[in-house]
Amino acid sequence: MIELQNITYSYKNRIALNDISIKIKKGEAVALIGPNGSGKSTFLKVLNGIVFPQEGKYIFNKEKINEKKLNYDIFSKIFHKKIGFVFQNSDTQLFCSTVYEEVAFGPRQMGLSEHDTDKRVYDCLELLNIEKIKHEAPYNLSGGEKKRVAIACVLSMNPEVITLDEPMNGIDPKGKKFLKELIKKLNTSGKTIICSTHDFEYVEGIFKRAIVFSEDHKIIRDDEYNKVINDEKFLVKNNIK
Ligand SMILES: Nc1ncnc2c1ncn2[C@@H]1O[C@H](COP(=O)(O)OP(=O)(O)O)[C@@H](O)[C@H]1O
Ligand SMILES: [Mg+2]
Repeated sequence: MIELQNITYSYKNRIALNDISIKIKKGEAVALIGPNGSGKSTFLKVLNGIVFPQEGKYIFNKEKINEKKLNYDIFSKIFHKKIGFVFQNSDTQLFCSTVYEEVAFGPRQMGLSEHDTDKRVYDCLELLNIEKIKHEAPYNLSGGEKKRVAIACVLSMNPEVITLDEPMNGIDPKGKKFLKELIKKLNTSGKTIICSTHDFEYVEGIFKRAIVFSEDHKIIRDDEYNKVINDEKFLVKNNIK
């Protein structure tokens, strides 16, 4: 479903991804692991068509993804409907005046009727257990609530692939437990999950596979998740733990 071939991306002169090649199949649950600055967030930005690599090829559902194609409104809409991104910082994702409006934004953009939009919004509010705050302003919410709203926004588009950037960051233990169960449930229901994380404690049981990034922005290991996180020597040597 997702294939990167020899992807290299630099911010001005600063390299962030160095010759990355990877395939991810539909329905997988993949953890992105690596020290700070290794390129995990940039990898997710490439997958979501937010930045475009200077070198290499990105193929999504057999279709080559590049800046030119995403400038076409129709192609861009189809693509962004299939893959959703939960940003590390929810504030960059939330901009509407109420939670309801926020979750309704995507379905409306997709051209759904008000009736269908309303149904989707309520399904998502219920799934995230945030019906009670639907009239509140997102900027007044706690970090955990903001994260739930951001996830509801992504789910309201019913994407096939859900990408999340350190979703457990700044969330209280109860919220983390909720998110863990939710992500598992989404994966069980067939969604492909790609998620950067460094908090191994709270993500137990979510992932089957781990892709490990190194300080020099390469993929140094692609293995079973449990094997990787139980390999103390490897994690310490690569500044992950
Ligand atoms: N907007 C940016 N401008 C310049 N450099 C950036 C920017 N974002 C990230 N970088 C650099 O790119 C590299 C990879 O960053 P990032 O993808 O955020 O890593 P991670 O998510 O693994 O911490 C780092 O060296 C980082 O400093
Ligand atoms: Mg990051």
